[in-house]
Amino acid sequence: MAGQDRSRTLRSQQWFDNPDDPGMTALYIERYLNFGITREELQSGKPMIGIAQTGSDLSPCNRHHIELAKRVSAGIRAAGGVPFEFPCHPIQETGKRPSATLDRNLTYLSLVEVLYGYPLDGVVLTVGCDKTTPALLMAAATVNIPAIALSVGPMLNGWHKGERVGSGTIVWRSRERLATGEIGYDEFMDIVAASAPSVGYCNTMGTASTMNSLAEALGMQLPGSAAIPAPYRERGQIAYVTGQRIVEMVEQDIKPSDIMTREAFENAIVINSAIGGSTNAPIHLNAIAGHLGVPLDNDDWEKVGLDIPLLVNLQPAGEYLGEDFHQAGGVPAVVAELLKAGLLPHPDAVTVNGRAIGDNCRDVENLNPEVIRPVDRPLKAHSGFLNLKGNLFDSAIMKTSVISPEFRDRYLANPQDPEAFVGKAVVFDGPEDYHHRIEDPALEIDAFSILVIRGTGPIGYPGAAEVVNMQPPARLIQQGIHALPCIGDGRQSGTSGSPSILNASPEAAAGGGLALLRTGDKVRVDLRQRSVNVLVSDEEWARRRAELEAQGGYKYPASQTPWQEIQRGMTDQLAGGMALKPALKYQRVAQT
Ligand code: FES
Ligand code: MG
Repeated sequence: MAGQDRSRTLRSQQWFDNPDDPGMTALYIERYLNFGITREELQSGKPMIGIAQTGSDLSPCNRHHIELAKRVSAGIRAAGGVPFEFPCHPIQETGKRPSATLDRNLTYLSLVEVLYGYPLDGVVLTVGCDKTTPALLMAAATVNIPAIALSVGPMLNGWHKGERVGSGTIVWRSRERLATGEIGYDEFMDIVAASAPSVGYCNTMGTASTMNSLAEALGMQLPGSAAIPAPYRERGQIAYVTGQRIVEMVEQDIKPSDIMTREAFENAIVINSAIGGSTNAPIHLNAIAGHLGVPLDNDDWEKVGLDIPLLVNLQPAGEYLGEDFHQAGGVPAVVAELLKAGLLPHPDAVTVNGRAIGDNCRDVENLNPEVIRPVDRPLKAHSGFLNLKGNLFDSAIMKTSVISPEFRDRYLANPQDPEAFVGKAVVFDGPEDYHHRIEDPALEIDAFSILVIRGTGPIGYPGAAEVVNMQPPARLIQQGIHALPCIGDGRQSGTSGSPSILNASPEAAAGGGLALLRTGDKVRVDLRQRSVNVLVSDEEWARRRAELEAQGGYKYPASQTPWQEIQRGMTDQLAGGMALKPALKYQRVAQT
């Protein structure tokens, strides 16, 4: 029974049972009684467990957590804890303007304040939609009270005319057909709606499935729980077990810093490659690590993750969707395949259930080797990220698993320079400029152009826009040119299969080289050397730099809200996880 053999006092007892200050204790207790909790419960010495609720009508991907929280509460009660559900600032990936990432740090900040300032001994993090997962894990990292994540689970598979249609991905695919007139507006809308058939988050391997899988890979959610579709009965059952487990974790004092170690992050990088995870993953994991004081950067991502094969056959890189992934065995089956091949670097890393990830997963059977491929029959032999550098930026990520053979042949095999692709830059300043000019017949653009977008990083476009995967103009698509190389200081949706060079840091607005680039400049991309360089003389480059500085730097639109201005003033670049720089020094704050 909870509390019986505990030698330490719980932090909630500083509020509810402090014999040195009965006046404050009375004040702390009095108001929690007014909705029916008893003084006996509050002074029982039982763990007080927060349920950080991210679901609401404004966040449909996570809305099912409102139901699941009832099962979490039941589990907490059954294990001898007292549940306290409270709301988090909503983050809805597709509905929030100018970008949902702007809110990741806001949700983080507010949750830190709640976890630090209220009588909570542990917390269940209800995660799901893209940025909810990193926001909550970042807060748990900073505060460092016992924490466990509960994914809301993906939507059921989407179907249209007998084919799987994955959320997000189908938008990128169908907007091209809409642009060329192959389908009309109503059919476009119907196809996209069919991709979202139930409660839950994106059923593709976009940022949501990625980040929930990685929360499990890091050891922060129960094994096998990330991939369970939201409407399945197992989802409610794992919610109950999660509630039970957090109470035990408080008793055992297992904290985020015990689980999210350097070793756990290296495991997560390897698993990210194997699942074909989103290019948003390095941003978020680098930020979570930063809040724990664990060193992690984009060089680590390339070093640890590049040579790992792509095993999971999910859209956008593959064919299947979230239900198929769960039925094949989910994250544990992927880990089991990696273990068999000796590719998981740290099988001994401990997870929230108190056991090592290797022990949790070793005997899990892969129930569908088409969906989760064995290592000797991968979808791609190498599936990680390249970390590119040069005179345009210090770090930019490229997801190798989405480079198609057609793309490789067409754009990367240059007869004059077989190592590299040299293209002429077509430069856009932000998404509005791109949309305004891309179809302009006067725009000089052909099969050997490189589309560049800037002003889309954490400062230029607060939160960094998901816009780097730019579509060529309709006239090129009609000629069969479906993709051009894209470079940008913004991000790209995890549901997009575009082989872009993105997350360029520093961004134009922070003085990065992209600010000096001009339409018509030749850019050389050498993937083997991991370099991207503009081919202009040093003198010319210095002249442009001086000119830009004389004009007061790269111009970007004014902030529209107070938070945009505040965040712009303190954000790190995408390579640094876009963390709030002043926040990084606050670590393990519950112990202070
Ligand atoms: Fe919320 Fe994809 S939009 S999970
Ligand atoms: Mg997204």
